[in-house]
Amino acid sequence: MTGFATSLPSPLLVTGGAGFIGANFVHRAIVSGARVITLDALNYAGNRASLASLDGNPNHTFVQGSITDRALVDRLLSRHRPHAVVNFAAETHVDRSIDDPSPFVETNLLGTFTLLDAARAHRRELRSAEAESFRLLHVSTDEVYGSIAEGRFTENSPFQPSSPYAATKAGADALVLAYHRTYGLPTLITNGCNSYGPYQFPEKLVPLVILNCLAETPVPLYGDGAHVREWLHASDHCAAIAAVLAQGRPGETYNVSGSVQCTNREIITAICAIFDKLRPRAGGKLHAELIVNVADRPGHDRRYAIDSAKLTDEIGWRPEITLPAGLEETVRWYVANAAWWRETHRRYRGQRLGLGRVVEP
Ligand SMILES: NC(=O)c1ccc[n+]([C@@H]2O[C@H](COP(=O)([O-])OP(=O)(O)OC[C@H]3O[C@@H](n4cnc5c(N)ncnc54)[C@H](O)[C@@H]3O)[C@@H](O)[C@H]2O)c1
Repeated sequence: MTGFATSLPSPLLVTGGAGFIGANFVHRAIVSGARVITLDALNYAGNRASLASLDGNPNHTFVQGSITDRALVDRLLSRHRPHAVVNFAAETHVDRSIDDPSPFVETNLLGTFTLLDAARAHRRELRSAEAESFRLLHVSTDEVYGSIAEGRFTENSPFQPSSPYAATKAGADALVLAYHRTYGLPTLITNGCNSYGPYQFPEKLVPLVILNCLAETPVPLYGDGAHVREWLHASDHCAAIAAVLAQGRPGETYNVSGSVQCTNREIITAICAIFDKLRPRAGGKLHAELIVNVADRPGHDRRYAIDSAKLTDEIGWRPEITLPAGLEETVRWYVANAAWWRETHRRYRGQRLGLGRVVEP
């Protein structure tokens, strides 16, 4: 794993660092030479094993706890005096938000508010140069803009969230903007597109398809499979977040997308084709034969597309990993890291995981 091209503020408080994108970010931040304090509640998607290789590293401290715990957040800020906070902590699965929005309101809205308010108080205690350079970067999603039939949303597009997940993310973004405008807190927001890569909890589309292909069990596809998403490797997503942290203008929002669009059917078929190459099925059967249509998700957005010209023009970030190369690397990672996801499967066997049920490969 390589570090980031830009040097990061250090020490850094990273919330949600045991989740998918957060863990990828923490590993790269440490390789870059930053000192990182990870705060994570270890909900079902948080996995302590994703950071286990950093145990004993003097540049990494792991704290289990919630961003809604004001006393804990205050303590971490005053003890470690981070130069920046990067907030990945969130409830993130749209299907779960439809089943029960309450944890999404709790973490995504109240948790973000708690972090903002604690950061505002903390900044008042800093010397003026430190207060000037302090940053709070909030990681958000393209889903806040809703669905778009043609063209792309820019940072000036209005929020039109469809799911309770997207609504709580939009509410959190609005709070972040208000803390900058009202209190002058030096905030940054990134609105990223769909990501894939190592350490993603297997309820999300890409790892779900990979594990079902490995087990040769049915691969579910929502509705007609024509929903369009943009896809970015987690490593490129993290590099964009690092670049915004180092060079972004306080109070600004940056869209993050590699502009690589494909339908859900196309991405699933691409993963199936990688399996045909790496692990051919007996009898010449194709992995795509495992695909089964399932009922569509309520309120399912048809197409997401965001314009990240502001990020490329102002900051110079560009993605490095193509979708075919990134998908194949991701498949190889899940095949090579069965111990990482087997433990998750053991804990969640029998529960609904996104589109499917936990299977036993
Ligand atoms: N995955 C994507 O495709 C994607 C795309 C764009 C934006 N995002 C955003 O990036 C961020 C990270 O997403 P992800 O896919 O890594 O999510 P994830 O679900 O894999 O990880 C979230 C992490 O937050 C932790 N967490 C949850 N509630 C917490 C709380 N109250 N206090 C502390 N920690 C808590 C979880 O334990 C987990 O480790 C989210 O804010 C998400 O909205 C994700």
